[in-house]
Amino acid sequence: MLTFQKDSKHSTINIYQHNFMNRLEFLEESCPDQDQRRLVLAACRAALTAGFMLRDLYGKPHEISMKGEINLVTEADIATETAITASLGEDTPEIAILAEESADEKLKEPAEPTWIVDPLDGTTNFVHGIPVFAVSVGLIDAGQVRVAAIYCPMQDELFCAWQGGGAWLNGQKISVTETDFLVQALVATGFPYDIHSYLDEVMDQMRTMLPKVRDIRRMGAAAVDLAYVACGRLDAFWEMDLKPWDTAAGWLLVQEAGGTVTDFGGKPYTPFMPEILASNTRLHKLLTDQLG
Ligand code: IPD
Ligand code: CA
Ligand code: CA
Repeated sequence: MLTFQKDSKHSTINIYQHNFMNRLEFLEESCPDQDQRRLVLAACRAALTAGFMLRDLYGKPHEISMKGEINLVTEADIATETAITASLGEDTPEIAILAEESADEKLKEPAEPTWIVDPLDGTTNFVHGIPVFAVSVGLIDAGQVRVAAIYCPMQDELFCAWQGGGAWLNGQKISVTETDFLVQALVATGFPYDIHSYLDEVMDQMRTMLPKVRDIRRMGAAAVDLAYVACGRLDAFWEMDLKPWDTAAGWLLVQEAGGTVTDFGGKPYTPFMPEILASNTRLHKLLTDQLG
């Protein structure tokens, strides 16, 4: 039986309880380890809760403030972070939470198991009415992400993964592409908010990559980029100056789907390093040769 702890204090979360059950039934068979399943369920419930809120708020007027010259934050980022924190707090009260909107300026890799949360990845898309954004929830423990959920509310796509259990999209197992050549690869990248500090590097990367690949996408949400590499819509993704909440869940998804994640030079990745290169594995060396 799939169960969640009930807490009548959090009625907004419980409204959606029924909806969760059907779509998570597949975990009973696919994730037989009860402890692991409890964590996957907690991640999925938090991501879905926030995603349903974002779907309700999408297209309505927003209260927008600035975290930097072009870095937006809205009432939706804050409200979803509060809801995720409540949901995770109910389901896994023993696990700490590091969430984007309440994180300290000085980020440290946590020593104890910690949920890493981006309540709304793709805020600029959300504000401009582009339906490409996601909620990202990953559990980091001893430097590894053990459990991940990424929910894209407008597509109603729930990606999840747990260590050793593969990567899943709406209950179906997913895997990376089998593309062997850059000229056949559809790749994605993103641009840092602090673009002035990175302009030359970003332009160099585009100059190098554009003539070699089939095309480049800029989705506007790193969690979506990584989920799309995991399910084979993209062959690879790279970006610099990201934060752990952008990539923690996606890192596990790509690995569990058969992909490889490193820095641009091919060194092992952790979400506390600023650059990420994720690929279908087959293209990885070709990509580090270009970007490293
Ligand atoms: C941003 C998105 C974007 C990436 C930025 C991120 P946010 O996250 O993932 O695609 O290029 O670097 O910060 O601010 O929308 O959560
Ligand atoms: Ca983000
Ligand atoms: Ca965000």
